[in-house]
Amino acid sequence: MTTNPTLDLLHRHGSVRTYLADPVSPAMVEQIVHAAQRASTSSNLQVVSVVAVADSATRSRLSKISGQTHVAQAPVVLVWCADLRRLDRACRLRGRTQVTDYVENFLTCVLDAGIAAQNAAVAAESFGLGVCYLGSIRNDVRAVIELLALPRLVFPVVGMALGWPAVPPASRPRLAVSAVLSWDRYAETSDAALLEYDGIMAATDIYQRRQVPVPGKPGRLEAYGWLEHCVRRAEQPLRTELRAALKQQGFGLE
Ligand SMILES: Cc1cc2nc3c(=O)[nH]c(=O)nc-3n(C[C@H](O)[C@H](O)[C@H](O)COP(=O)(O)O)c2cc1C
Repeated sequence: MTTNPTLDLLHRHGSVRTYLADPVSPAMVEQIVHAAQRASTSSNLQVVSVVAVADSATRSRLSKISGQTHVAQAPVVLVWCADLRRLDRACRLRGRTQVTDYVENFLTCVLDAGIAAQNAAVAAESFGLGVCYLGSIRNDVRAVIELLALPRLVFPVVGMALGWPAVPPASRPRLAVSAVLSWDRYAETSDAALLEYDGIMAATDIYQRRQVPVPGKPGRLEAYGWLEHCVRRAEQPLRTELRAALKQQGFGLE
């Protein structure tokens, strides 16, 4: 397989959850955000904003909301926001009104935020920095909105802890390419591919080699793997307040 420095960097990725106390300079944060801005953006609308949180009290508060200590440990937390507010301003400057009532309006800025954030992650990793996305800021999204003084039409989509890794990140195995790639029409991933990946993950230290009951076979145990990990996540309703918070921020979702 051919490779190059960009592919090598992408394949070295691993989320970092332990950071050194060393700061990340504002100039470096600016370079990272500059690289994020270079990402493709729907119709060049650039419906993304990012709040860089360096203040330690604010990081502590984000850490509490997230329920994750590394959020306070990271010297900077980037909060990626879907932002239709600038577009509202643009419309007003032209004496017109923006439509914000539809899922499409929300999807446009959420996708833009995610795409920009990933450019930032790659830029940060190119400096040797570590990142960890934080969906956990949505545990209490209203508190984040208040904490960061986010106005109407601005919504915090995901956080990103940013700092110098205390230990080099581990690279987590992924599903086989053939499990996620199909040509010309959708192909269902086979059970065999899922079970194979379950076993690969169970054999790593990622799930601390825990054991869980075998479904339908009382008294028998098996390795906790990716399938059990997914099920425990997928069977629970999560962050059920988001629609109400989105409406409060002016996103319609019709
Ligand atoms: C949108 C998004 C939200 C995430 N939220 C969290 C989070 O709240 N806390 C956390 O520790 N990791 C979070 N992660 C990191 C994932 O757990 C991680 O990317 C995944 O387990 C794969 O591991 P890797 O990044 O080390 O390859 C998030 C990742 C993404 C893309």
